[in-house]
Amino acid sequence: MAGTLLALLALLGASQVLKAECFSPWKGEQQMYKLDIGWPKTPEHFTGQTFCVAVDSLHGLVYVGQRGDNVPKVLVFSEEGYFLHSWNDTVEMPHGIFVWNTAIGSSVWITDVGTGKYGHTVKQYSPLGKLMQVLGTPGNAGSSLIPLQFDQPADIFVEETGEIYVVDGDGGMNNRLLKLTNDYKELWLTGTNGSGIGQFRIPHSVTLDAFGRVWVADRDNKRIQVFDKVTGEWLGSWSGCFSEDGPYSVRFTADYKYLIVAQLNINRLAILAAPPVGSIGDCAIVHSVQLADETKPHLVDVDMRSGAVYVAEIGAQQVQRYVPLS
Ligand SMILES: *[C@@H]1O[C@H](CO)[C@@H](O)[C@H](O)[C@H]1NC(C)=O
Ligand SMILES: *[C@@H]1O[C@H](CO)[C@@H](O)[C@H](O)[C@H]1NC(C)=O
Repeated sequence: MAGTLLALLALLGASQVLKAECFSPWKGEQQMYKLDIGWPKTPEHFTGQTFCVAVDSLHGLVYVGQRGDNVPKVLVFSEEGYFLHSWNDTVEMPHGIFVWNTAIGSSVWITDVGTGKYGHTVKQYSPLGKLMQVLGTPGNAGSSLIPLQFDQPADIFVEETGEIYVVDGDGGMNNRLLKLTNDYKELWLTGTNGSGIGQFRIPHSVTLDAFGRVWVADRDNKRIQVFDKVTGEWLGSWSGCFSEDGPYSVRFTADYKYLIVAQLNINRLAILAAPPVGSIGDCAIVHSVQLADETKPHLVDVDMRSGAVYVAEIGAQQVQRYVPLS
């Protein structure tokens, strides 16, 4: 066992192993995912801090948002791991990213927490990086709904109908979840600063399940809260699973059976059993993927076709891909 491991380490080269830790085969726990060490083919394109990743499973594309001086802010890879193109224009500090596919075409939504002239916004780009829509007042933090304003918007989810969910934000004056119509008007809003029911301390990531529920990683309250997507009504909360570190991401696996939660400070992906329709109940971590020290997984996304999980790692400055076993 030890001999095999040593041989494997030698084969991979020490530096790669440092970044590519994962299996913990000695734990005896059946693993759900295997690190794809061949993805991407050209990791040298990761030149900044990789904050977010979004998969377009329909077109086989992977979008990565990174920050830094003099680096392209959005990198586009094929799902095979080939680098395709990048863009800079009007992106300041990407935080969350989401691919929206409709019958007409696809686009990429980015939340920007920059404080310069493009920041405090949620922006829609064409797949090639052409700016199509800006929500918020660029360069101005705020709470207004008409016109829409954000303060460090953290993440976005867009339904096929075009209805939008935004968590706002990543440490600014707002601690709220907003639902917008497909023409960007408020449908409902919930949340204020606090730790009570329906309140938030850094609502960091948002997603929908297949049963009409909105899931929010309420990071600094160390819990996940769930809301009805039509009414915004609070449905439940999971607070028992995150005492060590708050949840940074919420994304479902392709079969909606599990929720994948990145925990940045303990370098872990927690995989939780998702409740079927009905009560939210208590949380249960059914698997975990322990990453190497200082990897700092920030946000993740799931390829809803292949089931692959992509992890944006701020510390390791890369995006890694985990493929489902079996
Ligand atoms: C982005 O901007 C930096 C300098 O500001 C430049 O080095 C880089 O080539 C640009 N990349 C793209 C894709 O425009
Ligand atoms: C939220 O409340 C906490 C505790 O009262 C406080 O420390 C923090 O500054 C508040 N945040 C905002 C954005 O008002």
